[in-house]
Amino acid sequence: MAEQLQKNQTAQQRLLGDVSHELRSPMTRLQMALGLAQQESTTQSAREQYLQRCQLEIERLNQMIEDALALSRLENTLKTIEKKNLNFTALVQKIIQEEQFVANETSIQITLSAEKAIELAGDHNLLFSAISNVITNAVKYSPDNSIVEVSLSINEEFATLVICDNGIGVPKASLGELFTPFYRVNLARDRKTGGTGLGLAIAKQAIIAHQGNIFAKNNKVKGLSVTIQLPL
Ligand SMILES: Nc1ncnc2c1ncn2[C@@H]1O[C@H](COP(=O)(O)OP(=O)(O)OP(=O)(O)O)[C@@H](O)[C@H]1O
Ligand SMILES: [Mg+2]
Repeated sequence: MAEQLQKNQTAQQRLLGDVSHELRSPMTRLQMALGLAQQESTTQSAREQYLQRCQLEIERLNQMIEDALALSRLENTLKTIEKKNLNFTALVQKIIQEEQFVANETSIQITLSAEKAIELAGDHNLLFSAISNVITNAVKYSPDNSIVEVSLSINEEFATLVICDNGIGVPKASLGELFTPFYRVNLARDRKTGGTGLGLAIAKQAIIAHQGNIFAKNNKVKGLSVTIQLPL
């Protein structure tokens, strides 16, 4: 009990440290843009642009705080998750349907191959959020007109879900870090895709809460594969 408390506290402290650190960059840009907007010499049209920048940074700060709170809440509720029997295949189908909506914008096709209907005990919302985060990434880090392949299989012990894309992949040295809160492979590369770097950290917490396993590896030719294993 004491040990668990200690463990939680360290996770919370670490998250707080990470959050405060990450809030700094958008905060600095916000201050700069506001300062420039307030300068008398700034033209009306430039001022509007600086204010737009402020708006953007505020939205970004909001998103980061929201994501960090979600992660923190998740870390707190891990032990009290309510598992119910659910149709895992149907859940994955539903997620793909929703993600396809966004993928259409870049003409990316998400395919599913599933052996058969899989039932397991889990928390619907946690699993939904974990898998959505991984598929969102696959779509986000893939080129237009490509395919994201989702496959679902089982053996006696596990249901295994693999999300495989044809995108840019991840440098080998970064593979282990992907699930760390706020970790993003390359700030310059990832800035244009937006995001906080919390999606996979959230996914990992949710999968661990199910005594499952999540890991990433690069495909032989191109892109990343993320595997999620859940005990049956
Ligand atoms: N399918 C992928 N292909 C290439 N890189 C990936 C992929 N998935 C994740 N990454 C890398 O891992 C990093 C962490 O992913 P994560 O989902 O945690 O954060 P994010 O997508 O940057 O932001 P968020 O999910 O919080 O909006 C990403 O910034 C990206 O660099
Ligand atoms: Mg993400």
